[in-house]
Amino acid sequence: MAVHVLDHPLLQHKLAILRDENTSVKEFRELVSEIATLMCYEATRDLPVEQVEIQTLVSKATVNKIAGKKMAVVPILRAGLGMVDGIVTLVPACKVGHIGLYRNPETLEPVEYYCKMPNDIASREVLIVDPMLATGGSATAAIQFIKNYGCKNIKLMCIIAAPEGVKRIEEDHPDVELYVAAVDEKLNDHGYIVPGLGDAGDRIFGTK
Ligand code: PRP
Ligand code: URA
Repeated sequence: MAVHVLDHPLLQHKLAILRDENTSVKEFRELVSEIATLMCYEATRDLPVEQVEIQTLVSKATVNKIAGKKMAVVPILRAGLGMVDGIVTLVPACKVGHIGLYRNPETLEPVEYYCKMPNDIASREVLIVDPMLATGGSATAAIQFIKNYGCKNIKLMCIIAAPEGVKRIEEDHPDVELYVAAVDEKLNDHGYIVPGLGDAGDRIFGTK
């Protein structure tokens, strides 16, 4: 499996502010969206293009356009929702599917509570998004879910990952490319990423 750790200075600067406990809900939300845009730029680098003939004001030109059915973005609810706008800014034609999963705080196992996918999801490149990859339980379940729809071309984009989560995705889904802005030190006893940023959903939606 390919793991892409995106180290662009603009991205790393925004991530530094995101991690700060003094960052407000408003700023946090804006930063998650901006980071998603910057990460999406890298994660879409290998989208297939096709040559098309057009007429400019000066002459005919052969130009490149994205080929085929383009993308679907699938946020893992709730926190993944915070990344959708930033991606739609770059890829306005993309469709959006939703997977509702939460982690049982005792077992840390993902529990599914909602799912709605575009009808043609199987023919699209799918970008699953969630700010946090901790144990990897939620992401691996979401990937399997999407695979069950017949999707072959799947990428996972998370802002911060724990080494445990990266390893889990590598083992369970070696065909899935992973894009992250940071791989942190470890998980703590409650399954939180250290140093991380706390609970991403709570920080995006102001629920704590
Ligand atoms: C968080 C996060 C991921 C998951 C990561 O969601 O947004 O979905 O935990 O943990 P894992 O890799 O160990 O599965 P949470 O369950 O807190 O739900 P929320 O987004 O509704 O807050
Ligand atoms: N989910 C979060 O939101 N944060 C963590 O650190 C781990 C899981």
